[in-house]
Amino acid sequence: MCKQQLIKEALKPLAKSEINIGVLGGAGYVGLVTGVGLAALGHQVVSQDIDQNRLEMLRDARSAVYEDGLEPILCQLIDIDQISFTDDQPGTIRSSDAIFIAVGTPSLADGAADLSAVIAVAEQLRDEISKYTVVVVKSTVPVGTIDVVTDILSQKLTPGEDFDVVSNPEFLREGSGLIDFFAPSRIIVGSDSERAMKVLRDIYEPLLEGHSVVNVPWIDASREIPYVETDVTSAQLTKYAANAYLATRISFINEIAGISEKVGGNIGDIVAGLGLDPRIGPGYLQPGIGFGGPCLDKDLRALITVAGENSYDPVLLNGVLQRNELQLREVMNKISGALGSSLYQKRVALLGLAFKEGTNDVRHSLSIRLYRALRDQGASVVGHDVLALDEVKELEPNLEVSSEVSDVLAGAEVVVVLNSESVYTDIDWSSAGLPGQPPFVVDTRGVLDIAALEANEIPFYVLGSTA
Ligand SMILES: NC(=O)c1ccc[n+]([C@@H]2O[C@H](COP(=O)([O-])OP(=O)(O)OC[C@H]3O[C@@H](n4cnc5c(N)ncnc54)[C@H](O)[C@@H]3O)[C@@H](O)[C@H]2O)c1
Repeated sequence: MCKQQLIKEALKPLAKSEINIGVLGGAGYVGLVTGVGLAALGHQVVSQDIDQNRLEMLRDARSAVYEDGLEPILCQLIDIDQISFTDDQPGTIRSSDAIFIAVGTPSLADGAADLSAVIAVAEQLRDEISKYTVVVVKSTVPVGTIDVVTDILSQKLTPGEDFDVVSNPEFLREGSGLIDFFAPSRIIVGSDSERAMKVLRDIYEPLLEGHSVVNVPWIDASREIPYVETDVTSAQLTKYAANAYLATRISFINEIAGISEKVGGNIGDIVAGLGLDPRIGPGYLQPGIGFGGPCLDKDLRALITVAGENSYDPVLLNGVLQRNELQLREVMNKISGALGSSLYQKRVALLGLAFKEGTNDVRHSLSIRLYRALRDQGASVVGHDVLALDEVKELEPNLEVSSEVSDVLAGAEVVVVLNSESVYTDIDWSSAGLPGQPPFVVDTRGVLDIAALEANEIPFYVLGSTA
């Protein structure tokens, strides 16, 4: 029995399937959720990774990546031997009927996707596949990558006979990854092989049949799940289009927030009014410091690169990216404006260091970029986060952090709120700042209690509003 506390009956494992699945990159955000989800559907899963530290934690049902509700389900799956964790890539490949590739595809300096990890596992697959295997690319990869993987495997193997390569892009949102696995908005599968398509249908069948696998209140397993079968190019491009669109909404609302500020509007009311339009909806319409994190920025840059490589000028997407860069500078200007000409030794508190609320992921967090910009101008920065303090310490050992919001506020000359964690909405402002000198508060998310700020005579700025 693993050490994690077991939430009794959280998981109702389905009858064991005949399908053996290997997940390469199985200790990452996408790989872990994919492996756990597929194991919960009754498949036998081996999750392989090169990160020994993460593997060791996972064998003990502890996850280095934060996902609500994941550890108890993982614990149950380990106890019934439905999932295991290994660094043995050749063994994982040889024992699997389907291999899910979930390795990282970060940005290269020129914006293109770095496919080195995908290529490395493709070469291993080429050398180890010994029976018909469906290779499922879950990593976000630019159009053309499925052909690259197919070409590598074809150096030793015959497509259609020894293997098929399928695109099955992932749409999970960090922080609600399990919900997105068990009740996904859609599943998209791209292939020209009917044999491989059948295997994918079999893998996802328990979900599509509406079986309730996890018994937790926050997952509505009864919803019908749209299942889209298409060609590989369209599947890959759908993923990039989705992230480019989400990024566009964020840049759009930040632009509206900028205009609103100039003309005396209230961005909170504008967002509410926009979101009520069923053609628009409320998602991804909160103004803020801009989009960061592991996906939106890198995927937008990769799509722009692909467009350029194909002689297409993506003027809109370039504008989305430029607007995002501008946003960080505007927040920086607000801070400088409050502190006068020099930031040297000025105390600035940053609330929210992960790339968004509800996650411990600090990869490409704009809060971290803001910290670096402030540090480079000599400011003394202190930070708080609800979930990501360990990750911040690893990434930025010189950034002073505290798990207590009140410690971070004490002595601060400027306080910048960067995400919408509920602890920030409930702040007791009475002891913030220096003795007799309240801080200037920059609320980039419009989440603070304005009445509480006013009651404590704290000067403030809410992004997108003149009030
Ligand atoms: N994080 C998200 O929210 C999200 C959502 C949808 C899609 N994606 C895409 O999924 C992919 C993975 O993203 P992630 O956030 O899970 O990244 P991650 O860095 O958390 O996970 C990648 C894992 O791959 C492992 N790895 C690297 N090289 C390997 C190799 N040669 N063999 C085996 N394992 C190897 C790493 O150790 C790591 O554990 C990316 O393409 C990303 O764009 C991510």
